[in-house]
Amino acid sequence: MSLTVVKKAAVLIIFLQTVHLVLWYSSVKGKPRAMYEQNGNISVNICPLIPQGLVGKINVEKSNTDWLKIESKYTMVSNGSHHPENCSARHKVAILVPFRDRESHLRIFLNHMHAFLMKQQLEYAIYVVELDKDIPFNRGFLFNVGFMEATKDKEFGCFVFHDVDLLPLNDQNLYQCPDQPRHMSVAIDKYKFKLLYDENFGGVSSMSKDHFKTINGYSNLFFGWGGEDDDLFNRIVSNKMIITRILSNIASYTMLPHIHASENPLRYEVLTTGKNESTQNKDGLSNLKYHVTEKIYRKLFVHIKVTINKADAIDQLKSRIKESSKLQKLFNLSNSTFKKKLRKHTRSRIKQNKF
Ligand code: BGC
Repeated sequence: MSLTVVKKAAVLIIFLQTVHLVLWYSSVKGKPRAMYEQNGNISVNICPLIPQGLVGKINVEKSNTDWLKIESKYTMVSNGSHHPENCSARHKVAILVPFRDRESHLRIFLNHMHAFLMKQQLEYAIYVVELDKDIPFNRGFLFNVGFMEATKDKEFGCFVFHDVDLLPLNDQNLYQCPDQPRHMSVAIDKYKFKLLYDENFGGVSSMSKDHFKTINGYSNLFFGWGGEDDDLFNRIVSNKMIITRILSNIASYTMLPHIHASENPLRYEVLTTGKNESTQNKDGLSNLKYHVTEKIYRKLFVHIKVTINKADAIDQLKSRIKESSKLQKLFNLSNSTFKKKLRKHTRSRIKQNKF
């Protein structure tokens, strides 16, 4: 090859590279850094790894604002969701909130959380899930329903399981799902900012979609207060995952005052009988049955109202526990109704040859 051909080729290559560079520069000029990543190639407009503008400690507005005021404040929120305008969010997060009779808490919660989540540049939606009043409250079951219903709406990769009365006090507490399940409400003012016990996974926690499916979600059998989060901890351990926590000065929360709900008299029994993996695989997302009576896409949240077959629930519980008198009390059943339900249960157990 003659020298002039080589020279011409070299000039052509330099020319093409310059054109490429000029084109690339003009396309990224003036745009935020997050617009391009990975070896400087223009790619999707991804939001920064650490959201900009986080300040640490934040105030909580606990005064009772009315719906109109909050709704008009959040003009950019619709259907309970929001996504950043200038970049594409790294995380798609569903915030699931079990709910009963706490309307004033819900308003304070939404007012605080929308501002908080927006700052974190997430693509998120808030789901408030409410069980028929006729059935005792069941936090774990409501999380399972929220998970299924949110998943129908969007490919959420991360789920935050959130009590309505807990509000984060630090905006650096990132609502994302790291490699392992995360207990987020490490330090709560009501408990003098001290973790109650190492295995605690209650209050606020987060898990990836895959992890939550792997552990078969929450148990559906904890009616009334307590135990469902301890059971979830057991599921995490059974599946060889670990719980992670960040520093307590960041993972800090304030709790809105409320009357303590009545404790589930069966919680220890359901907890201890649910420790083995085969029981965990049978009770959770895998056997979740519910009927959505309403799914309303309100401006600041998706409101899901749900009901279950009471007799079914009693049947399932009966196969796990011995203390039937407590079960009768829990479901507020008269003696005769309860006996009828028990007879039905016994008949079906005999049919299945379980005695
Ligand atoms: C209950 C948990 C609860 C924890 C902290 C435990 O006894 O079983 O459900 O989260 O106390 O209140």
